[in-house]
Amino acid sequence: MIREITAQELDTDRFIEEKVQDIRAAVGDGMAINALSGGVDSSTVTMLGHRALGDRLKTVFIENGIMREGEPAQVVGFFAKLGVKVEVVDARKEFFSALKGVMDPEEKREAITQTFYKDVFGKIVKSSGAKCLLQGTILTDVDETVAGIKRQHNVFEQLGIDPQQAFGYRIIEPLIQLRKDGVRKVGKALGLPVELFDRIPFPGPALAARVIGEVTPERVETVRKATAIVERMLKQSGAFQYMAILHEDRVTGVRDGKRDFGHQIEVRCWDSVDARTASPTKLPFDLLEELAGKLTEEIPGVVSVTYNIASKPPSTLEAV
Ligand code: XMP
Repeated sequence: MIREITAQELDTDRFIEEKVQDIRAAVGDGMAINALSGGVDSSTVTMLGHRALGDRLKTVFIENGIMREGEPAQVVGFFAKLGVKVEVVDARKEFFSALKGVMDPEEKREAITQTFYKDVFGKIVKSSGAKCLLQGTILTDVDETVAGIKRQHNVFEQLGIDPQQAFGYRIIEPLIQLRKDGVRKVGKALGLPVELFDRIPFPGPALAARVIGEVTPERVETVRKATAIVERMLKQSGAFQYMAILHEDRVTGVRDGKRDFGHQIEVRCWDSVDARTASPTKLPFDLLEELAGKLTEEIPGVVSVTYNIASKPPSTLEAV
């Protein structure tokens, strides 16, 4: 049983000090490695690891082909300013070939998990000589996975999987007692800029969690463009998380007086504190209309835009 530390009871200075000691004790005089996606959790764990280990922590950004527009360069840039060197590893081929033909949501998540930990990371860890991987798993990831709601990409031990046996390295998870609101406090205290500690959550399986049906480079490109528009236009909404989803079904549309059998984009925007429950944000209708205009004008083939009005539960935040 993991003991939860709520954001209210969290003493950030004490937490940081304790975790720095834990990481040093676990790594000894060896080195560790961590994967930075630029999300709130992995950014916080990167800073924590660097405080504990300095140059003995090697940080990599896995370019899996399913990240948001301009993300690799942006994340590397942010961390360069913080004095943290980030190596970009191009693994697009590995991820897209693992996702080829996979339609089922849980199989898709499993394909991403295996590719990430076994193929891509397995090789990186082996060649670097590191014994452990430092990772930003949080309590909500564990809860949902154990309950069988959704396989979060980063949960193993609680499912009876020993990473040492399965992948050949240990995993250290300093944030596992926290939820998103607690992680933001720790990230801020560690000196992350507001653009990073106050970022909207973005899932480990990245844009693949927002493509219903097969994840191909072309379909990811469509949802990537839609995501950029939605994030830009809903930035001021103050919502917990907002996203675009590409549907599998096509629908009949009309463009320039001709039939256009096109794509459907679903917009979701959530009010939530810790992602366990959520309700759709009551966005002004004018804003929704403007959003629909931009999505259909700027993305080739999009003829339909919907707004999700169901709550979690029974919905979940991501679609896959
Ligand atoms: P759901 O979709 O389960 O999402 O309501 C809850 C929160 O978790 C994020 N999410 C993930 N985070 N690995 C992660 O690290 C995952 O596999 C994953 N799936 C969903 C989601 O974006 C939301 O903030």
